[in-house]
Amino acid sequence: APDTAATARARVPLTIGHRGVPVQAPENTLASIDRAARLGVRWVENDVQRTKDGKLVVIHDTTLTRTTDVKKRFPDRAPWKVGDFTLAEIRKLDAGSWFDRRFAGERVPTLDSYLRRVDHNRQKLLLEVKAPELYPGIERQLVAELRRTGWLDRRHVGGRLVVQSFNAASLRAFHGLRPEVKTGFLGAPKPAELRDYAKFADQINPDHTKVDAAWVRSVHGVKGPHGRRLEISAWTVDDPDRAVALARLGVDAIITNAPHVIADALEEA
Ligand code: G3P
Ligand code: CA
Repeated sequence: APDTAATARARVPLTIGHRGVPVQAPENTLASIDRAARLGVRWVENDVQRTKDGKLVVIHDTTLTRTTDVKKRFPDRAPWKVGDFTLAEIRKLDAGSWFDRRFAGERVPTLDSYLRRVDHNRQKLLLEVKAPELYPGIERQLVAELRRTGWLDRRHVGGRLVVQSFNAASLRAFHGLRPEVKTGFLGAPKPAELRDYAKFADQINPDHTKVDAAWVRSVHGVKGPHGRRLEISAWTVDDPDRAVALARLGVDAIITNAPHVIADALEEA
């Protein structure tokens, strides 16, 4: 008899913690990936930007106001853009108290410290290059940082690292520099456009509300730059029923703010 249990198990999508586990710890911090590790979450997603003095840091918004105390510390620096502050200034900010006083003193991580911690935790990383149009040349800099921290070793490029962006030109540039690293385009291109993206993207990662059976079939029908079918990682799915529905549509991974909850729902479905 066919091994149906094994077959079903093989189709369970990966669960990826969006910015870590942001329902339990401040997003995009080392505390958030440590919390993910404690919960057994193997894949985490983050957002990478650049400081005024050219250092790569992990933060989602292009301004510092929502997730740090920058307005209190630097009241005269409106509109408080990430790229208008040096790393030394950003490292003075509290990136935890806005979430919960228990996380007071948490910092905006450098990409270097973040990569080392993910590695130490033996986690896998979906790294988003956020708003690269604001940071010319960030792709080359990212390659240098990945190389320096050991993330271009074979053990990583063999499936522990995906680089994604909403910006197709940036993703194409990154793929050109390091074609061996898996890449994901953030968006839901029409079927007729997929072949263009497949020249530089291994994954097409859509807003989950754009996903239906026909679209999944179209994406899976196209081969990416490494000769394998394109994969789909859908975001941001916090409703277990929707996650199970997406799994049944054949989505390859679910990006979620509650990875521990969604992983359980997918295993039990
Ligand atoms: O990983 C997908 C998702 O993170 C894209 O949207 O705004 O949360 O970066 P955003
Ligand atoms: Ca993101």
